[in-house]
Amino acid sequence: MSPAASEATIASKAGQTGPALPEGSPPLEVRGLVKRFAGVTALAGVDLRAGRREILGLVGPNGSGKTTLMNCISGVHRLDEGQVLLQGEEISGRPSRARARQGICRTFQNLKLFGELTVWENVQVGANAVGGRGARPVPDWLDLLRLGPVADAVVRSLPYGYQRRVELARALAGAPEVLLLDEPAAGLNDEETAELRELVLTVRAEVGCAIVIIDHDMDLVTGVSDRVQVLDEGRTLFEGDPRAAFTEQAVVDAYLGES
Ligand SMILES: Nc1ncnc2c1ncn2[C@@H]1O[C@H](COP(=O)(O)OP(=O)(O)OP(=O)(O)O)[C@@H](O)[C@H]1O
Ligand SMILES: [Mg+2]
Repeated sequence: MSPAASEATIASKAGQTGPALPEGSPPLEVRGLVKRFAGVTALAGVDLRAGRREILGLVGPNGSGKTTLMNCISGVHRLDEGQVLLQGEEISGRPSRARARQGICRTFQNLKLFGELTVWENVQVGANAVGGRGARPVPDWLDLLRLGPVADAVVRSLPYGYQRRVELARALAGAPEVLLLDEPAAGLNDEETAELRELVLTVRAEVGCAIVIIDHDMDLVTGVSDRVQVLDEGRTLFEGDPRAAFTEQAVVDAYLGES
């Protein structure tokens, strides 16, 4: 899909939530990213771009490099080649804490919460990471994610679906320009996944950041994303309209392990 067509898709989907076309540099841009682990090339030159108020679905078979890409963007991993740019500024060499302070906020495939702390305290950790300069106070995030009634509950005592929302609230309290969600629906039932879908759209409308979402639930990803990017063996196989992705033979083959 051409950039113009891609932006038109974004604009049409975001019609209810405000302007979608990026002004100037996009919140997130990745150029030619290469990441190797010992003998494994996890990413073999990946480009990615996410605009303001855009939701980009990042999909691909197990081991295709999705989490590694998020880890390179957020600074968990050092990249071997390429660039990560936040609003046009190169941040590739910066540590993860500095990137978080600049607005790259994320959730993890395996939850990383403080189980012994309360919901409120966990979200406060996110706010503290940016010196309290978040756009809203902690109670607002709890309300937005419908966590108000359990604000004082110890996190490990809560059902898993709640814990996933706590992690999202903590990321939001970090004042995201770019929000990275790694398998936010993993372990959720159908009802919780439907609720998550609404929450992601609410976050886009209320926060206006760029969102990159990885998930194996294709209904969720195609339903929520303006655009998808399909990875396979560390390369981009497809980028464009979510509804078109799974009509591409190369994408089907990759999922069937025939690429
Ligand atoms: N820390 C690491 N050390 C060594 N190899 C790694 C490491 N992290 C990832 N890899 C390898 O990099 C490749 C990409 O892994 P990655 O976790 O990014 O895939 P993924 O697309 O997120 O998969 P999944 O859908 O299963 O979560 C795999 O071959 C994986 O084994
Ligand atoms: Mg992963």
